[in-house]
Amino acid sequence: MILQVKKYGDPILRTKGKLVKEFGFELKELVGNMLETMYEAHGIGLAAQQVGLALQLSVIDLQLPPDTRETELTAVYDSKETPIELLFPLVLINPSIVEASCEKAFHEEGCLSFPGTWGDVVRAKWLTIKYKDLQGHEHTLGAGGLLARCIQHEMDHLNAVLFIDRLQKSELQELKPQLTKLQLNTKKQLTK
Ligand code: NI
Repeated sequence: MILQVKKYGDPILRTKGKLVKEFGFELKELVGNMLETMYEAHGIGLAAQQVGLALQLSVIDLQLPPDTRETELTAVYDSKETPIELLFPLVLINPSIVEASCEKAFHEEGCLSFPGTWGDVVRAKWLTIKYKDLQGHEHTLGAGGLLARCIQHEMDHLNAVLFIDRLQKSELQELKPQLTKLQLNTKKQLTK
C-alpha cells in the first residue's frame, strides 16, 4: 500500500522516533508499505516520520544501476566486506552511530518531504552504525560514499532533524521563500 508522504510543516517531522520493541507482523507490513512508497516516489531513503509514525525505523535503497561500481560505495556488513547491492533494501531499526569519520564531505541532498528543494550538506565521509533488522537481530554496518550520506540523512529524520537544519546560512536564506510556501501549504492541508 502506498502511504502518504508527510511534507515540511507537518509536526510529525519534528518528532523524535521511539524505539521499536515489537518485531512482529505489523512491523513487516509497515516496512513493506514504506518500501513501496519510497520506490513509487523514486526516493532512496524514507523514515517512519515521513509516513506519519514517530519510530526509530527507516528504509534505504540507493537503487544503483546494475553497472555501477563506484569504489567509494563499499560496505562492511557484520565485519565482512560486502557488495553494496546485496544490502538493499536496507531496513534500519533502532540505529545508532558507533563511529563516524572526522573527514567530512559536501554534497547536494534532497528529501521526499521537501519536493523541489535541494541543498549542500556536510556529512561524515564514513561511519559505522549498529541497528536491528526486521527479525530483531543486531548488525553492524560500515559505510562510505552515498550510502554513508543517506544513512546520516535518515538517522537525522529519526531524531527530528531535517537536512535544511544543516545548510549553510546563506543557502538557507536563499531557500527561505520556497520553504515558507511549502510549510504554509502543508499547514493548510492539515487543517482541512
Ligand atoms: Ni529525507
